[in-house]
Amino acid sequence: MVTRTEQETRARLEEHGQGHLLAFWGDLDEAERAALLGQVETIDFALMNRLTEEWIHNEPPAERFTHIAPVPAIPQADPARPDVREALTAGEEALRAGRVGLLLVAGGQGTRLGFDGPKGAYPIGPISQKSLFEFHAEKIRNLQRRYGCTLPWYIMVSEANEAATRAFFQEHGFFGLGEENVTFFKQRMVPCVDESGKFMLEAPSRLAMNPNGHGGAIPAVVENGIAEDARNRGIDTLSYFQVDNWAVKVADPVYIGYHVQHNAEMSSKVHQKNAPREAVGVHCICDGEYRTIEYSELDIYPQLLETDAQGHLRYFAGNPAIHILAVGFIERMYANYDTFPWHRAHKKIPYLDGSGKRVKPEQPNGYKFETFIFDALRFVNHGPVALVIGRAGEYTPIKQFDGSNSVQAAWTAMGRYWADWLEAVGRAVPRDAEGNPAIAIEISPEFALTREEFLEKAPSMELPAEGDVAIGPNGESLA
Ligand code: UTP
Repeated sequence: MVTRTEQETRARLEEHGQGHLLAFWGDLDEAERAALLGQVETIDFALMNRLTEEWIHNEPPAERFTHIAPVPAIPQADPARPDVREALTAGEEALRAGRVGLLLVAGGQGTRLGFDGPKGAYPIGPISQKSLFEFHAEKIRNLQRRYGCTLPWYIMVSEANEAATRAFFQEHGFFGLGEENVTFFKQRMVPCVDESGKFMLEAPSRLAMNPNGHGGAIPAVVENGIAEDARNRGIDTLSYFQVDNWAVKVADPVYIGYHVQHNAEMSSKVHQKNAPREAVGVHCICDGEYRTIEYSELDIYPQLLETDAQGHLRYFAGNPAIHILAVGFIERMYANYDTFPWHRAHKKIPYLDGSGKRVKPEQPNGYKFETFIFDALRFVNHGPVALVIGRAGEYTPIKQFDGSNSVQAAWTAMGRYWADWLEAVGRAVPRDAEGNPAIAIEISPEFALTREEFLEKAPSMELPAEGDVAIGPNGESLA
């Protein structure tokens, strides 16, 4: 039976040239029909028409800057410097006062990693098989103990991984953080489009959609009452991180300190690019505004590849996507979100062909549209603070299993980082010709977040005399 909603939906789809989405209507049962209609209801047709008009039927919109300058940045923190000690004190005060919460974006599809589950559930511990979520939770437990505070953890998920993420936390008892301190909230989804701008079906009753990018955190935080919850808890500062950065220092006190000292609205860590064409965005000042230029735009701005007389990149400030955002800034950005630029990615998107056969394309066949959190930087009135970091112990993004930015690269990087701690307490670490540890190493961040803490606690630790080393949250050996 044709329902009124179906008629309306059919007319709406036809009007926007997307009538093919109901091609298999006759084969669907009631529940599937309801699901499909519900999904179509979530589509912002005005937005999608604008995006396909701008990006598919015309030349993509491009900004061109006439004057670009390197971003001013605070040099890497060295505790010998008075400004670093002052920032530490300010950050510790903010933590003790309960002003800080955590904003984790974990709504992505993780397609490159190809793991069957939310990316945060990936068993990254080389020995313990502990998940990325558990490592982050152990960092939180460490900080809560140290500063006698609660760090509410706001986790952005999407339609695609919400149920599995909630179930994972439930199964693990919320990692001892208290269910009331872990809040999941959902970002919006947008339809994927084929190369002619048509929406795609991934099943007879389901459109192919993707989460609206980590920039989707701006509306999602406000619309899901996260900003309000933070305010009610006395929190004005959110430490933003991405689930696939295993090493990330969550709520880093020195970083928070600089942010609050500058009364900044948004801050960024930046790392030295390791090659002019490294595939990371670069923080710059463009025509007077703070921007992150994507690596795909490097050829538009060849000055970004320039080095100085000493061979150092002038535009060195790579973007590891570690930010601090003021709650009030997110609320202010909510009003600006409609002006955020969208970014387009050419992707392989599985779809149903006209006969209803599922096709897994070998080549990119369509586009995903996303917004990015770093685009908020241009709107900042106070700050932004940019703090230089080294990569070791700060930035190990996990995008795929091997190659660059991979699980294997992260195991090696963290192995080297922790090997240095072990050697400092007299534990020999065999190494290969490149200096990489020839054993597997992992140290719980609940036991020690920093080298100093590790050295302090070393006497309470069980350290196997040889072979792999895995130290648990209480200093126990897991190897
Ligand atoms: P990536 O851009 O690396 O995407 O996300 P991804 O989904 O993890 O992986 P691919 O590209 O499909 O292989 C960086 C961070 O931003 C989050 C991810 O969960 C990850 O923590 N993210 C990304 C979102 O929360 N929502 C999005 O829409 C996109």
